[in-house]
Amino acid sequence: MTTSELTKTEDFSLSAELFRDAMRNLASGVSLITIPGVNGEPQGMLATAVSSVTAAPPTVLICVQRTATMYDALIAGGSFCVNFLGQHHLDLAKRFSDPTNRQSRFQFDNWLTLHTGAPVLEDALSSLDCSVLKVVEVGSHDVIFGQVLAARGGGCEPPLVYFNRNYGGFADIRDQAA
Ligand SMILES: Cc1cc2nc3c(=O)[nH]c(=O)nc-3n(C[C@H](O)[C@H](O)[C@H](O)COP(=O)(O)O)c2cc1C
Repeated sequence: MTTSELTKTEDFSLSAELFRDAMRNLASGVSLITIPGVNGEPQGMLATAVSSVTAAPPTVLICVQRTATMYDALIAGGSFCVNFLGQHHLDLAKRFSDPTNRQSRFQFDNWLTLHTGAPVLEDALSSLDCSVLKVVEVGSHDVIFGQVLAARGGGCEPPLVYFNRNYGGFADIRDQAA
């Protein structure tokens, strides 16, 4: 399927509700997408639609709704950072997905920068600092491919997981096999 086919309007037969019902059974890691923003005011939001694309060269994708507050600045600025959250980041996750509380999103944690100037959460499990490579419009969202210019972290603390419309954790079950 080509990019142009992806952007075509189709006669959708599956309702959004049934789609969401099915997708709630996909357990996802939870990330913060951050951008430097304009006038030195960083912006960010919570996202589960994040994926590795390839290591040659290091590339990720994020899916961002075009109504997100940070959308215009993200596209105009051409860079973003993906910060993978741990179980200890539950409050942070809620703050970055709460539309009534945008002002305080960056107030309570420690932030660094790497290459692009996008905020890097100091105690994120890993952070990937990216420049925008390509943007593909799909329905209500843009799929934004990022070339990873710098990375930080890589320890293995317990990740924050989103499943069945709830937050949870990760259980290592390697030793439970019969
Ligand atoms: C668990 C969870 C995952 C989310 N994943 C995404 C995502 O991948 N892409 C997206 O555009 N919005 C996602 N959202 C919604 C945004 O985080 C939310 O709409 C946020 O308020 C947008 O930022 P804004 O309020 O500054 O516009 C997610 C929300 C939650 C609770």
